[in-house]
Amino acid sequence: MRTKIVAGNWKMNKLYAEGLQLAGEIAEAMQQGIQTRTGVKPLVILAPPNYLLTAVSEHVGSVPGLELAAQNAAEHDFGAYTGEVSAPMISSAGADWVILGHSERRTLFGETDELLSRKVTTALNAGLNVIFCVGEVLQERLDERHFNVVAEQLKVGLFGLETFDDERIVIAYEPVWAIGTGHTASPQQAQEMHHYIRSLIADHAGEKAAGQTSILYGGSCKPDNAAELFGMPDVDGGLIGGASLVAEQFVDIIRSL
Ligand code: PGA
Repeated sequence: MRTKIVAGNWKMNKLYAEGLQLAGEIAEAMQQGIQTRTGVKPLVILAPPNYLLTAVSEHVGSVPGLELAAQNAAEHDFGAYTGEVSAPMISSAGADWVILGHSERRTLFGETDELLSRKVTTALNAGLNVIFCVGEVLQERLDERHFNVVAEQLKVGLFGLETFDDERIVIAYEPVWAIGTGHTASPQQAQEMHHYIRSLIADHAGEKAAGQTSILYGGSCKPDNAAELFGMPDVDGGLIGGASLVAEQFVDIIRSL
């Protein structure tokens, strides 16, 4: 369902007490009521490292509009896969969501579109909702291949699924050149790509599904640029990295919705 979403990807940050404190501060702000720019009630998703999921869930899990995500999940449910954490485990630890296909997973851990497609299936079968990340690297944009790159990521990673469930799949467009660099995409660049992604969903799953899918922008989204980005018609919120590690900044970004 098309919802306004701000998701915080903590990546590999925060020790135990720090993580609980950050989640607690965000939860408290939400309980007091965060007034968004347009008055919409946002869905806020926190994605702490896995080891914190249960503790954060017990700490803040009952706050309305606040849900938890993992940052990755294994391809398999159980078994001899040392070091992996599976989708059913994540679900049992208190998360409703998993981020799949983040560019750091793709580049640093060699995750391919084919693998991601299998991970998406496993995650959906385990009852998790999925934030599926796509985005081009700088050279691909300079070569004007960014639309093709994103189309291919969606085709192989998502559109091979039997059904495209817009209730359970959110797409995050994260140009890799914008992640953690301070160079955000312009609102026009974001809108153009989000609109294109929506047209690809329409071709694959129909106009209704396309209209119902939330598409988030990620990549150096901060309190001072969020309102402009979120103001674009096809931008339904953000996937926030660095600025999600400071409660005040993250809450300011939620206000920008
Ligand atoms: P950033 O990260 O906001 O620090 O650029 C975004 C992300 O990686 O999801």
